[in-house]
Amino acid sequence: MAQQKISLTRYLVEQQRADGLIPGQLRLLLEVVARACKSISMAVNKGDLGGVLGSAESENVQGEVQKKLDIIANEVLIEANEWGGHLAAMASEEMDSIYVVPNRYPQGEYLLLFDPLDGSSNIDVNVSIGTIFSVLKKPEGHPGVQEADFLQAGAKQVAAGYCIYGPQTTLVLTVGHGVAMFTLDREQGSFVLTKEDIQIPPDTKEFSINMSNQRHWDEPVKRYIDECLAGTEGPRGKDFNMRWIASMVTDVHRILMRGGIFMYPWDKREPNKPGKLRLMYEANPMSWLVEQAGGMATNGRERILDLQPGKLHERVSVMLGSKNEVERVTRYHDPL
Ligand code: AHG
Ligand code: MN
Ligand code: MN
Ligand code: MN
Repeated sequence: MAQQKISLTRYLVEQQRADGLIPGQLRLLLEVVARACKSISMAVNKGDLGGVLGSAESENVQGEVQKKLDIIANEVLIEANEWGGHLAAMASEEMDSIYVVPNRYPQGEYLLLFDPLDGSSNIDVNVSIGTIFSVLKKPEGHPGVQEADFLQAGAKQVAAGYCIYGPQTTLVLTVGHGVAMFTLDREQGSFVLTKEDIQIPPDTKEFSINMSNQRHWDEPVKRYIDECLAGTEGPRGKDFNMRWIASMVTDVHRILMRGGIFMYPWDKREPNKPGKLRLMYEANPMSWLVEQAGGMATNGRERILDLQPGKLHERVSVMLGSKNEVERVTRYHDPL
């Protein structure tokens, strides 16, 4: 008999059944997020034919010029999730403050955070982009929901994942028991399990960083990259390859598939910002996925998932991927 296709729903039901690994409300939430990603994928695939490319001529709270797809993806995720009754509120890269579920809908116990469209600089040049999402539980003990309820360390996440809109549309997800990947079957319109228990090789010969910032990096990062560039003639004794796609979802996905180290470190262009990437809806979900796949994620000094957020849109220096490489570059940051 042909290999049975396991849908996302069946996978989540089985995760739920295995001694109640995930509550029903969380399963419903994740299915809604997956459906929203399917809609975003359809919009992305239309490109110019759907009038979704180009700039929206507006600026977001990050000070970035928004692309039309940034806004479209944000709206798709809000509209898909606000009525279901499993969410109390949402936070997004594209919204200044949290979006509390309107009173006309029941409030649930979860908080959903997302980067609705990651890799915006690649939208208009037909390079893979994606959506990143993170789920927290709303703290108990008080009515309603405030921004402070979102300020939880990444270790508190109950689900995290991303969806890549590329040659395939793939959803990669963890609920705390390993990392699974689902590929969108466009004929059926459903996500089908195509990989589970994804493991990142602890060693690698591939680093991922935006080399144009090299002169701005801190010394430990300069040392680490210089050693990689020295190849067999240097202390590493092996040649390295470099990849930088500038959509975090694609660079992290490659690392989940074949190993590597991804870095977006602090640099002196913005000395008062710890880095470019956002903690709550880029670094935290990606760090949990990487750790669940046997990798490591630090800000150069501490485990990213242990960081206590102070602000919703705060940024962080990111070094994640193959454990032995992240350990090395983190060790280079140790005080002498
Ligand atoms: P976003 O498009 O959601 O703003 O995120 C873009 C991020 C991340 O996806 C990527 O790794 C990084 O920006 C690329 O930065 P550079 O363009 O500076 O290389
Ligand atoms: Mn952006
Ligand atoms: Mn992003
Ligand atoms: Mn984005």
